[in-house]
Amino acid sequence: MTRTGVDLGSSPRTAVIRELDPLAADGPCLGMRRHNDRADVPALVAAVRRLVPSLDDVAGYSVEACAAAMRDLGMFLGSIKRHGPEPLPLVPEAVPVLLELGRRTDMVPRDTVHHYTTWNPVGGRQRMYTGDIQEAYLQESVRMVFPHLREGLELCERLSGADVADPKFAVLTEELTAHVETMVSSIDMVVANVSPEFFARVLRSYFEEITVDGRVLLGPAAAQVPLWLVDQAIWAADNSEPQYEEFLRDSVPYSLPRWRELYGRWTGVPSVVTRLVEAYGPDPDCAERRAPALRQSAEELARLLRVIVVFRGRHLGIARKAYDADLRLYPVGSGGASVDLLRQIIDLTRAGAALTRRPGPAGAAAGAERTSA
Ligand code: HEM
Repeated sequence: MTRTGVDLGSSPRTAVIRELDPLAADGPCLGMRRHNDRADVPALVAAVRRLVPSLDDVAGYSVEACAAAMRDLGMFLGSIKRHGPEPLPLVPEAVPVLLELGRRTDMVPRDTVHHYTTWNPVGGRQRMYTGDIQEAYLQESVRMVFPHLREGLELCERLSGADVADPKFAVLTEELTAHVETMVSSIDMVVANVSPEFFARVLRSYFEEITVDGRVLLGPAAAQVPLWLVDQAIWAADNSEPQYEEFLRDSVPYSLPRWRELYGRWTGVPSVVTRLVEAYGPDPDCAERRAPALRQSAEELARLLRVIVVFRGRHLGIARKAYDADLRLYPVGSGGASVDLLRQIIDLTRAGAALTRRPGPAGAAAGAERTSA
C-alpha cells in the first residue's frame, strides 16, 4: 500500500489509471510519435511545456490521476532525451511537479515500466514513442506478466513463511510456477514479433536515464519487471553474488511500494531454498521418512526454477542479438547492466536449482540439471 493507502498495482486501480487523462494529453501523445519520427526536439519541448500542470492542479488530483500525469510527462521527457538533450533544463517548471507526483504515488519522481505498460491505455489512446507495432508487442509482453507477478510475489510471501515440510508448500509453489510461466509466453511473443534491430536501433534509446533534481533515474524498461524479487525470496537472499545483489538494490527503487516492502522482508533472512536444504539435513532418507512432503516441496521448487531458467535463456538469446557489437548503440542495458550479468544470473539460478536436488541416486529434483533454455 502507498503512504496514501492506495494500492496502485491492483487491477481496479490499474484500470482507473489507464482511463485517466488529467493533462488532456491524448492528442499531444499521438503527436509525440510524429515529433519523434522527425527528431523534432523543439516541438516535443513546446508540447510538454503546455502539458505541465501547476502544483495547485496536482493538489486536486487523485493518486491515480497523479500516476496518469507522470506517465504522460515521462514519455515526453524520455522522447527529448532520445534525441540528445537532457530534458529538464529545457522544462524546468516540470521538476517540482515530478517530485510531487512521485511523493503522492510513493514512487520515484519519473515514469517507470508500470506507467509505460500496465498504466498505459490500449487501443486508440495508447501512448507509444514510435507507433511501430513492434513497440506495441513489447508493451504487451510486459503488460501481460504484471498481474501474474503481483499474484506470484504474494505467493512468495506465503512461501517465505511456510514450513517446507508442510504438504501445502508444494501446492503453493505449483501455483507460483503457473504465474511465472507467463514470463516464458511473454518472451516467446517478443522473439516472434520484435526484431533485435528494432530494439537496438530504434527503441532502446527512449529508455535512457534522465536527471531529476540531481538524481539520475533509469528509463521505463522491462528490466524493472521484478523477476529478481521472486529470486530474492526463493534463493537469492543468501545464495547470490555481489554484482547481482547490486543490480537488485539498484532496481528496487523503481518498484511499487508493496514490492519494496517485500524486498526488505526477504533480505537478511534465509531464502526458501536454504530452508529446504536445512530441512533435509545430512541424512535425506531420514528427513523424508520424518516428513514425506519434503520430496514434493523439492520437486516443485526445482520445477519453478527450471521455468525461470527457460525464460532467462530465451531472454538472453534476444538480448545477445540486440547488444551484439555490430548492432548496438549502447554497451549496456537501460537498467545499467550488461548481457554478461544476464549470463551470470542464469548461472546463479541454476546453482539455486541444484540446491533443491536431493542427494543420492534417486535425487528428488534431478531434473533441475536438465534445464533447457
Ligand atoms: C528486445 C527485447 C529485450 C532485450 C534486448 C532485453 C535486454 C535486457 C538487458 C540487456 C537486460 C540487463 C539489464 C539492463 O537492462 O540493464 C535485461 C534485463 C531484464 N529483462 Fe530484458 N530485454 C528484452 C525484453 C524483455 C522482456 C519482454 C521482459 C519481460 C517481460 C524482460 C525482462 C527482463 C528482466 C526481468 C530483467 C532483469 C534480469 C533478470 O531478471 O534476468 N526483458 N533485459
